[in-house]
Amino acid sequence: MKRVALLGCGSMGTQIAQAIDSDDFPAVLTHVFDSSKVASEFLVEKLKNKPEIVENSHLLSSQHIDIVVEAASQDAVKDVGLSILQNKKDMLIMSVGALLDESIYDILSDACEHFKRTIYLPSGAIAGLDAIKSVKDELESLSITTTKHPRSLKGAKFFENSEINLDEINGSTVIYEGTAQEAVTLFPANINVAALLSLAGIGSEKTKVKIVADPNTDKNTHHIEAAGKFGKMTFTIENVPDEINPKTSRLAILSAIETLKKYCSNDIQIGT
Ligand SMILES: NC(=O)c1ccc[n+]([C@@H]2O[C@H](COP(=O)([O-])OP(=O)(O)OC[C@H]3O[C@@H](n4cnc5c(N)ncnc54)[C@H](O)[C@@H]3O)[C@@H](O)[C@H]2O)c1
Repeated sequence: MKRVALLGCGSMGTQIAQAIDSDDFPAVLTHVFDSSKVASEFLVEKLKNKPEIVENSHLLSSQHIDIVVEAASQDAVKDVGLSILQNKKDMLIMSVGALLDESIYDILSDACEHFKRTIYLPSGAIAGLDAIKSVKDELESLSITTTKHPRSLKGAKFFENSEINLDEINGSTVIYEGTAQEAVTLFPANINVAALLSLAGIGSEKTKVKIVADPNTDKNTHHIEAAGKFGKMTFTIENVPDEINPKTSRLAILSAIETLKKYCSNDIQIGT
C-alpha cells in the first residue's frame, strides 16, 4: 500500500482525501497539512481513517510516505517542492502554474534526476495532452480559449490593474489575450490548464491564451487548437465547476484522483 501525504485541504484536497479514504483505493492517507488549521481539521473530521495533521508543510516530507499530493497554491509548490524531492518522495502537483517560473522548473527537474524521484502533473481540467505530447516536435501553433462565469474569475491579480468590472459584464466578453507565460501570473488560480498545455507542447511564450467571461454559462469551457506538420487537432471540454470552489472543475479533481490511483496500483496502464 502506498503512503500518501496531502498538502492543501481545500475543495480539491478534500475530494482527493475522500477518494483515498474509500474502501477500494490502493493507498492510505497518513499525513495532511493546510496553512489553515481549520481546513485540515474540517477535512480530517470527514475521514474514516484519520491522517495526522502536521504542524508545517516541511514536516510532510520527513514522514514515512511515498508521495506528497499538492492541492494548495503555486506558493506552496515553490516553498516545499525541493525539500520533498530531497527527502526522496515523489510529488503530484496540481498548482502547475508554479512550473512556468523557469528557475523553479529547472530546480525541480534537476532534483527529480538527482534524487531519482518523479513529479506527476495530472491532465487536470483538459483532455488531449497525450496527443499534444506526441506531436510536440511538429507543433507550429497552440492556443487555448477558456470561458468561465465571471464569478469563477473573481480575485485574479489581472483585475487589480484593469478597468473591467466583472459584476457589470452582461454578455460573453473577451477579457484577456496573451501568452501562457503572462496569463499564469495574472490568473494564477484559473490558468493551470494553460500551464500544462504549454509544458506538454511548445512552451509558455508560444502558447496563446484567451480568457472569456460569460455570465450566461454554467460551465468552465476550454477550447484547444493545435496545428503543425502532423495535421490539426481541436478539443473542447465543457466542465462542470466544483460546487465549493467554482474556479476548479470537477474533471480536474477526477484527473488528480485517477493519476494517483495509477501511481498506487500495479495494473495495465491505458493511454500515452
Ligand atoms: N491542474 C489543474 O487543472 C487545476 C485545476 C483546478 C485547480 N488547480 C489548482 O489546485 C490548487 C487547489 O485548488 P482548490 O480548488 O482545492 O483550491 P482551494 O482554494 O479550495 O483550496 C486550497 C487550500 O490550500 C491551502 N493553501 C494555500 N496555500 C497554501 C500553502 N502555501 N501551504 C499550505 N496550504 C495552503 C488553503 O488554505 C486552502 O485550504 C490551486 O492552486 C488551484 O489553482 C489546478
